[in-house]
Amino acid sequence: MATLFAVGVGPGDPELLTRKAERVLRRVDVVLAPVSNPAEASVALATVREFLDEGRQEVVVHQFPMTSDTSRLTLAWQEAAGLIAARIAAGKDVAFITIGDPLFYSTFIYLLRIFRESYPRIPIEIIPGISSINASAAQAGVPLAEADGKVAVIPATAGLEHIAKALAVYETVVLLKVKPLFGDILELLRQTGRQEATLFAERVGGNRQKILTDFAEITAHSPDYLSLMIIRCSS
Ligand SMILES: C[S@@+](CC[C@H](N)C(=O)[O-])C[C@H]1O[C@@H](n2cnc3c(N)ncnc32)[C@H](O)[C@@H]1O
Repeated sequence: MATLFAVGVGPGDPELLTRKAERVLRRVDVVLAPVSNPAEASVALATVREFLDEGRQEVVVHQFPMTSDTSRLTLAWQEAAGLIAARIAAGKDVAFITIGDPLFYSTFIYLLRIFRESYPRIPIEIIPGISSINASAAQAGVPLAEADGKVAVIPATAGLEHIAKALAVYETVVLLKVKPLFGDILELLRQTGRQEATLFAERVGGNRQKILTDFAEITAHSPDYLSLMIIRCSS
């Protein structure tokens, strides 16, 4: 039976794909790439395009709207699952590509649930990817954890209260999805004296990569969705 591959393509640099991810992407019949806004290019697809043969392979770009409206989201996931299942039933191997790692804050997790419930016979292989967190730390040369140090990862959208609690307890705090609360986060970092301990990373691995450690520069910047922060208690 044909297989569904969930391929983590890393943060956006084609050289940060695993050899396994590249091998699978060169071989599958269909590649399904998620986008949140149909007017914008898929970062995952741009990352892997050089490995694809679009004359032979079908590339499907599917929209997963960025909304908290569960009924719209469920519809998008179910549509994607249906698209994939139909191709697998026709004997085609399908790769669902996702930035970073497929099991770390990825749309693929919702698809995985649908497949386990509605298409339990379809084989699924998950290929891990380098997370944006590891790629950002590497670009900046900032250690994420050592010895018995503890790390918290918080989607900033969870709220300032969770960020403040984590800053009080963990040696390293990683904030994803910082854009919507950027101003409030900066104010909290000022109040807690973390200006010197803050790293800002945007579009790591791509040609619009930005790594900032100067707090005044971070404050002056207007972040896009693909940005995160790493706050370290000690350097
Ligand atoms: C839905 S999560 C996806 C995480 C992804 N699965 C991973 O393993 O890195 C989206 C968030 O990840 C972070 N992110 C993803 N790619 C990034 C990149 N290239 N540079 C900086 N942050 C990135 C941003 O915080 C963004 O808001």
